[in-house]
Amino acid sequence: MRFLVTGGAGFIGSAVCRLLAANPVNRVVNLDKLTYAGNLQSLGSIERLVNYRFVRGDIADEKLVGTLLRDEKIDIVMHLAAESHVDRSIDGPGAFIETNIVGTYRLLNTAYDYWLGLDSARKNAFRFHHVSTDEVFGDLPFDSGTFTEDSAYAPSSPYSASKAASDHLVRAWHATYGLPVVLSNCSNNYGPYHFPEKLIPLVLLNALEEKSLPVYGSGENVRDWLFVEDHAKALEAIATRGRIGESYNVGGRAERRNIDVVRAICSILDRKVPRANGGSYADLIEMVSDRRGHDRRYAIDPSKIEVELGWCAEESFETGLEKTIDWFLANESWWRPLREQKYAGERLGEAVRAAI
Ligand code: NAD
Ligand code: TYD
Repeated sequence: MRFLVTGGAGFIGSAVCRLLAANPVNRVVNLDKLTYAGNLQSLGSIERLVNYRFVRGDIADEKLVGTLLRDEKIDIVMHLAAESHVDRSIDGPGAFIETNIVGTYRLLNTAYDYWLGLDSARKNAFRFHHVSTDEVFGDLPFDSGTFTEDSAYAPSSPYSASKAASDHLVRAWHATYGLPVVLSNCSNNYGPYHFPEKLIPLVLLNALEEKSLPVYGSGENVRDWLFVEDHAKALEAIATRGRIGESYNVGGRAERRNIDVVRAICSILDRKVPRANGGSYADLIEMVSDRRGHDRRYAIDPSKIEVELGWCAEESFETGLEKTIDWFLANESWWRPLREQKYAGERLGEAVRAAI
């Protein structure tokens, strides 16, 4: 199969590229704009493989994407490129509208033109896989319920609203124009190469630097965590074997309260890199003001992908977190430049909003 992966220099996209390119029968073309979140250092293990190619560019560049699709004879588009951080979407929603909505629209148009020109065998085989989030469903009560593929859309943040819009566009291109699409909505990922703006890598690196560990609000908000390499395997299954027009919810059956996630990181670090002062990293926890529009709880019911595609998460939250921490401890050369040059860990999402 010949894949075009958009956003392949990001956290999840790079895991997908590493997984796909490890199989020599695949051709993997990675299209990424290299925003602050894109990082070619995450692709060092595959950059010299003959079945892998990186192209710097924007999903909204119809000429570039059309040429790539034709020249590379792409069979499957896996669309991961996005602005992905909720707190940044609160400070500046414009980039989220541009990339997640307008960019997805332009990518759909380009893919549709390309698909129309294919012969019937390749037309039947073609797939446009749109990678989305469980955040499109809004939030759940603390004590009951899970998101299924039939849950109503009710996004809260500019990020999740922009992803919801893109999901609707993808479904419309299938219903209206017949483009063969498949969608997936996944819970919170964590693991190696995670940009340290999201909760787990931010807390981990702040702890190592003896900085405070910010927990928003009460710390009781719940997220459902999935190890990124499990997600990459799910995405490969969905892109290659998922049913056209369907969506699949992906999750690790690993709900945790934020405060418990932060405490778990602290206790692993206490064991692996004891603090010089003899105390626990948990002493650095600081309860800070809540995020605006903070969703209470996300929880995925992954039964459909488990039953239909035979996928299930291999890592528990405990084994995945241990692996993640080991990876960050062994790969300071990956994260140190990000902390020094791109984002040092200051609070995001609290700027007083001026006009957009
Ligand atoms: P990320 O922010 O780490 O990476 C996004 C990548 O997209 C970056 O490499 C960036 O350079 C690239 N990009 C941004 N705008 C682009 C554009 N206009 N053209 C080309 N490339 C562009 O994101 P991630 O965490 O890897 O998420 C990947 C996808 O998975 C996103 O669509 C996100 O909504 C979805 N998702 C993420 C999570 C999660 O927990 N991180 C969970 C579920 C779904
Ligand atoms: P995050 O990693 O930003 O993912 P998402 O908002 O997509 O779920 O946040 C995960 C949870 O952790 C969310 O409930 C917000 C909370 N959080 C903190 O408590 N402190 C932090 O510094 C960050 C970044 C997030």
